Amino acid sequence: MTDVARDPRIIVALDYPAAAPALDLVSGLDPASCRLKVGKEMFTRLGPAFVEQLVGRGFDVFLDLKFHDIPNTVAAACAAAADLGVWMVNLHASGGRKMMTTARERLESLSHRPLLIAVTILTSLGEKDIAEVGFVGAPADNVVRLARLTRESGLDGIVCSPLEAAEVRPLVGRDFLLVTPGVRPASAARDDQKRVMTPLDALNNGADMLVIGRPITAADDPQASLERIQREIAGFRR
Ligand code: C5P
Repeated sequence: MTDVARDPRIIVALDYPAAAPALDLVSGLDPASCRLKVGKEMFTRLGPAFVEQLVGRGFDVFLDLKFHDIPNTVAAACAAAADLGVWMVNLHASGGRKMMTTARERLESLSHRPLLIAVTILTSLGEKDIAEVGFVGAPADNVVRLARLTRESGLDGIVCSPLEAAEVRPLVGRDFLLVTPGVRPASAARDDQKRVMTPLDALNNGADMLVIGRPITAADDPQASLERIQREIAGFRR
């Protein structure tokens, strides 16, 4: 398990339609002061070479591809991510215990083992949406159940909203990463995020790592924006 207390807590979400603007941004960032997230859009456009380029520049990369398939396929995909040298990779907890344990065991057999975390219930889904696909009860109850299943399956943590973090943290203990998007510095626009929280409030709610995109990537001076957020959370102690 990574010692999160000494690690940079901010993961910058690189959501660009092409490599050039992403690399422009990355050129101004220090790998010691933040991590990077590559999601489905950039990976689908640019492929593994782009990820390897970021890793080659010394960044910890969270490959946010949210795998969900039969256990053998997900385990193989996680191993392929490990081969790219990524720091963290994720899957959907709703793929089930067998899928999660098979992926974790495959990663444990490798010399470079990325952290493996799970998405519980997508924050875009409400009660009606999850009922339509067969989940019973409120989204929050399903988040808690799937967080427990993720922990029991030996994974390193989950992605959750800062609001869910407060509910989940007491149930999973300290040694389990809670990675939260939906974070907005007090001064920033909310963009299309509805249920947002400031970085400091998210950490106080139990988050370990904060995924932040547009408040940094769309800022006139991204480096200055990152530093401002780092100052906002500098005094935080767990
Ligand atoms: O620009 P912004 O800070 O909203 O970016 C947040 C990042 O976190 C995006 O890459 C988005 O896809 C991701 N994310 C999210 N909400 C979730 C899961 C992932 O905003 N529930």
